[in-house]
Amino acid sequence: MPQSSQVGLTIRQKEPVNLETAVDQIDTFLTPADLFYVRSHFPAPDLKATEYELRVGGAVRQPFTLSYRSLREMPSETRTATLECAGNGRVFLVPAVQGAQWELGAVGTAEWTGVPLAALLERAGIDDNACEIVLEGADRGIAAEPPVPPGPISYARSLPLSKALQEEVLIAYQMNGRDLRPDHGYPVRAIVPGHFGMASVKWLTRIEAVYEPFQGYWQTSDYGYWDYFDGMPVRRALGEMQLKSEIFRPRVYETVPANQVYQVFGAAWTGESEVTEVALSTDGGRNWIDAKFLDPVQRYAWRRWTCDWLTPKRSGKYTLLARAKDARGCAQPDHHDPNHGSYLINHPLPIEVFVGD
Ligand code: MTE
Repeated sequence: MPQSSQVGLTIRQKEPVNLETAVDQIDTFLTPADLFYVRSHFPAPDLKATEYELRVGGAVRQPFTLSYRSLREMPSETRTATLECAGNGRVFLVPAVQGAQWELGAVGTAEWTGVPLAALLERAGIDDNACEIVLEGADRGIAAEPPVPPGPISYARSLPLSKALQEEVLIAYQMNGRDLRPDHGYPVRAIVPGHFGMASVKWLTRIEAVYEPFQGYWQTSDYGYWDYFDGMPVRRALGEMQLKSEIFRPRVYETVPANQVYQVFGAAWTGESEVTEVALSTDGGRNWIDAKFLDPVQRYAWRRWTCDWLTPKRSGKYTLLARAKDARGCAQPDHHDPNHGSYLINHPLPIEVFVGD
């Protein structure tokens, strides 16, 4: 594997910074922090740990404010979690859609250290009628995807109370054993394992318990999808990550040698289940062979996999697909669901490659 400094990131948007991981060049289970994708809607706010305050309030009995130092003095936990942006793979959609044109690398896995959100909520004493927890970041600006509110807004998302109270949800200050980098939410961010990345609010400054489902911009307008209630379309917030497998190597349009064993490499992940199987097709989906996992099941973390491909003798263009199954018996869908708009792209993504001499 090349030294991390040689790998770098791909710019999807310069300002606000949106950077994609070169997944074909990283073999490790944990994605190094400097190579981890960045998805930001507004410029990173310049927060100082010495002045930082986290407000916990709303539908609680004892609202309180916490300094960075007091947060770090609380008992902490370290958990591994894969984060995937809900728009990862968007560039594969036909016809093309609006939004950052993510290819395969708006996904990564890291070890996160922080205080369980449940510990803070317990200290605040949640009111019996509270139903959700809103997490708000310090970043502000004009939202991009219409319909947009007229003035600047902050980045805010809510979690159902049941998820917010799960022990794996962290108010994190470290990533892979080091303090968070500015682009990844320094000094403090939420980490919501099992949910798409948008739930893991960066630069977190406010935690608010609410009595009614939060209808904020990033919960409805953006990061929402169409569902049906008695045949009527209703807008729902994206939440749980969906079962997905990606081929990291070979890359799109790579030329691989003919009549040789090529080790196809990728990873698969899911939300509240476990990835149990990955199969690879090298002929556009007609035949499938089982891939071998490189990692054991670890809830909320991806499993890397490999599969030996004896490349054809005949040169030409071939389409590779990977398809995962989970412990619930579900498989990835064959096609993208238009109700999900430009999000939740978890059908097998075609990797077209050339077999040469
Ligand atoms: N939090 C704030 N405050 N502002 C943001 O723009 N982007 C979200 C989430 N948290 C965002 C945020 C999205 S869409 C994703 S996918 C993840 O952060 C990405 O986290 P990363 O940049 O550390 O990879």
